[in-house]
Amino acid sequence: MKKHARSLDANEILQLIFVYMTEVSSLRNYDDVIIVLANMGRALTSADRCTVWVVSDDKKKIWTKVAHGIESIELPIDSGVVGKSIINGEKIIIDDVYLDDRFNQEIDRKTGYLTKSMMVIPMFDNDDEIIGAFQVINSTSETGVFDRRDMERLMLSSTYAAETIVSAKLTQEIEETQKEVVFTMGAIGESRSKETGNHVKRVAEYSKILALACGLPMEQAELLKAASPMHDIGKIAIPDAVLNKPGRFDEEERVIMDSHAELGFGMIKNSKRPLLKAAAIVAYQHHEKWDGSGYPRGLKEEEIHIFGRITALADVFDALGSDRCYKKAWEDEKIFTLFKEESGKHFDPKLVDLFFNHLDKFLDVRDKFKDEF
Ligand code: C2E
Ligand code: SIN
Ligand code: SIN
Ligand code: FE
Ligand code: FE
Repeated sequence: MKKHARSLDANEILQLIFVYMTEVSSLRNYDDVIIVLANMGRALTSADRCTVWVVSDDKKKIWTKVAHGIESIELPIDSGVVGKSIINGEKIIIDDVYLDDRFNQEIDRKTGYLTKSMMVIPMFDNDDEIIGAFQVINSTSETGVFDRRDMERLMLSSTYAAETIVSAKLTQEIEETQKEVVFTMGAIGESRSKETGNHVKRVAEYSKILALACGLPMEQAELLKAASPMHDIGKIAIPDAVLNKPGRFDEEERVIMDSHAELGFGMIKNSKRPLLKAAAIVAYQHHEKWDGSGYPRGLKEEEIHIFGRITALADVFDALGSDRCYKKAWEDEKIFTLFKEESGKHFDPKLVDLFFNHLDKFLDVRDKFKDEF
């Protein structure tokens, strides 16, 4: 710990805020923003440490927001000085925590760090609900303790952090809602064609396995997993007589059915949301074939978006292994033979290789989301 640092003057404070806010504005991730705000709080108050505590959704615990790779601490909501601040909604300054019975000495014992001075500011959301606390420990100023002026400076960080946490929760809520709506739409589309909701679940899981296996980042794999249940959404516009025909199609019926790819694309193509944009790609391209003989546009090879190539394989693997109104499920060996034959024809050969390399994962998913009758 640095001892006897000079107190910062107003100019230096402004400079610090400018530097940290510039850093914040370059970040895309709420967790990173919180870490930078914690560093700013520490610098503004000349503290040795700064910790951001967040209240769990069930309001029973508090846990620390920490940089990637550091282990978070979790405590019951009423423990220690931070707990008191959160429960009572009060700001607390303590010169020597070992003379204060609100302090929980457990953490010092565990970490081997010696806490002396401490300041805690509770954080609230827009409805005045408690969401967490900002805590600084061990002032490195001449006095070695925190004062009112430090508190006002820490408020700058904590107010911004509270807003960040509220935004993060809202974003998460919206993203979860979008995923549920998209999944439900896909499941409704499938249910009309008497395929079970598990078909879209399996296609989603298979798609994620292939996305990760071919090296897409986790974020893209999750996006595809959320979007792929929509691949057949266009089937909701196909007349029942065609969709549920108990036998093979004639040529006219085939043309009607083939329009489901374009129809699905038309339903969602105008959205700017990343999830629906991905779903539009999948709906449009899941019947394109690697050699250019697919529909609706006859795209070939890498003209077909990787999401389209992946969903094509995932969809056919599932369709062949399932009973349909027009055919019985195929034996595994027959499916594998077709995949080998269609490598480089219907399917991207690289994806067929990955499919066989990760076959155990595919079979696990099929087992976990079996159709029940
Ligand atoms: P689906 O049943 O989900 O099948 C998706 C894709 O899996 C099919 O795309 C096809 O590439 C593959 N697939 C499914 N069953 C077989 C099969 O028995 N043999 C072979 N070689 N491939 C199979 P496709 O052909 O573009 O069909 C799209 C959708 O059109 C199918 O989705 C299904 O809903 C419907 N469909 C296709 N053919 C018929 C048919 O003869 N009768 C009826 N009632 N529906 C059909
Ligand atoms: C800073 O974080 O830059 C100032 C306070 C300290 O280093 O302890
Ligand atoms: C406390 O606030 O007493 C426990 C948490 C800590 O020391 O960091
Ligand atoms: Fe389809
Ligand atoms: Fe399908």
